[in-house]
Amino acid sequence: MNIEPLHTEFGARISGVDLSLELDQPTFAQIDLALNRHSFLLFENQQMNDQAHLDFTRRFGELEEEHVSYYSRGEITYMGTVGNIDADGNKVSARQIKSSTGNEMWHSDSSFREIPAMYSLLTAYEVPDEAGETAFASARSAYQRLDPSTRELIEGRVGIHDYIYSRTQISEDAVNQGQRTYMHPVRQRLVRQNPVTGERNVYVGSHVKEIEGMPDGEAKPLIKRLIAEVTRPESVYRHRWQVGDFVIWDNRCLLHCGCGYDADKYRRRMHQTRVRGAGPSIAESLK
Ligand code: SIN
Repeated sequence: MNIEPLHTEFGARISGVDLSLELDQPTFAQIDLALNRHSFLLFENQQMNDQAHLDFTRRFGELEEEHVSYYSRGEITYMGTVGNIDADGNKVSARQIKSSTGNEMWHSDSSFREIPAMYSLLTAYEVPDEAGETAFASARSAYQRLDPSTRELIEGRVGIHDYIYSRTQISEDAVNQGQRTYMHPVRQRLVRQNPVTGERNVYVGSHVKEIEGMPDGEAKPLIKRLIAEVTRPESVYRHRWQVGDFVIWDNRCLLHCGCGYDADKYRRRMHQTRVRGAGPSIAESLK
């Protein structure tokens, strides 16, 4: 297995591994450690299928249920689809997938859940001929760049993450009644720490609507500034998808966003699983 850096701040390309086969424990442990260190792993030319994808995901921990099908149809599924292809393989219009354009804002997956997602695993089956990249940036590197007074300001603070808040930035009808009824705002730490490497990071993104105990006039510009620090252009890695790419990223310390594509012209079909976090971020102890 070969591990090669992708960006100066984070990310690695891993070669010499076939993820459709069951990996032995030492190989898996190397991947797990690489993920804690590099936050983003790319495996190219994989021959993935849903079963292998689910089996590999389970090795990292408990699967997280996909929230869109749950709150829309009451269905529990662990395999989500990203893109513009329906269950019958047909392309839907750009208008029909409008609510998913919320993914084009910088976010951390499921930060609106009390136990947010630890990892997301995404495999590309069909990709547009142009655009459709996903951009990633490290909130760990951003934390290291913060001046001491900002670090002091955010230490011990709590951000309020709210799916309804972020999705209604696109339009009021981007959320359904089930989501409005059951998806409540949750409290998340503004500073998190990796339990393996001890590194700290800011934990922000599009779902954060306020900071507990801080007036809005102060909190909103601070949230904006923190997101801007994480996603400054030189810190962003834009992944240009190829069919067969399989990527894993650490939602605890990376932000990501879709970069958009012409959904009326091109097909884009990716499958995604997520690993549930170890517990509520709010209960994490920082050393
Ligand atoms: C995501 O937010 O998980 C997917 C982003 C994308 O569509 O590239």
